[in-house]
Amino acid sequence: MKHEIVEKNIGIMIIFIIVAISFGTLVELVPLMFSKKTNEPIAGLKPLPALELEGRDIYIREGCNNCHSQMIRPLRAETERYGHYSVAGESVYNHPFLWGSKRTGPDLARVGQRYSDDWHRAHLYNPRDVVPESNMPAYPWLFDNGIDGERTGRKMAALRRVGVPYSDEDIDGAASAVVGKFEIDALVAYLQQLGTLVQARR
Ligand code: HEC
Repeated sequence: MKHEIVEKNIGIMIIFIIVAISFGTLVELVPLMFSKKTNEPIAGLKPLPALELEGRDIYIREGCNNCHSQMIRPLRAETERYGHYSVAGESVYNHPFLWGSKRTGPDLARVGQRYSDDWHRAHLYNPRDVVPESNMPAYPWLFDNGIDGERTGRKMAALRRVGVPYSDEDIDGAASAVVGKFEIDALVAYLQQLGTLVQARR
């Protein structure tokens, strides 16, 4: 029987497995690449303003995404805790995506406006000051480091090349928008807008 030949020959078996998995992957992925639902920004989505954009880079630099996902799955346990599940159109301007899957801490996809700016500042200065049992690291240096606006405009220009609709005014005004600000201001501004476009939490 032909089937027996495949089952007894690991080389042929490996080739068939690779073909089967590749086919399955393509069937799942390719339609999404062309689907409006996944490619179009949701209503009201705007590119991150200069300060928030710098905040996002600090978020990446500090590795916040190693402990926090930004992806609420459409499961009851998640939507009850975090709010409306994440939709693809929220992330179309994100390069790179920060969805993640590792949750040492809570998901942050809708943390925007859930706490005050002061809460975030206290929490980032020393998490134990506001959440005694927290094992999140402290980030006190964010309060000392100023933002160097030199490169903010260039970052925007780079993002524009990959489809984020920054205007010339955004780019020209980027440096002055962050002048005199500290890293903590940028990071908190970034956190406070996360997920706020989709229906607020109950
Ligand atoms: C080592 C893992 C770890 C890292 C790295 C980390 N966190 Fe956390 N984070 C946690 C844990 C655990 C909690 C829950 C306890 C608490 O609130 O402090 C938390 C809570 C939070 C909360 C409150 C979320 C909520 O819904 O209550 C915010 C906001 C937050 N982290 C932001 C950040 C930011 C910004 C960074 C990077 C500068 C960061 N975290 C880095 C582990 C981490």
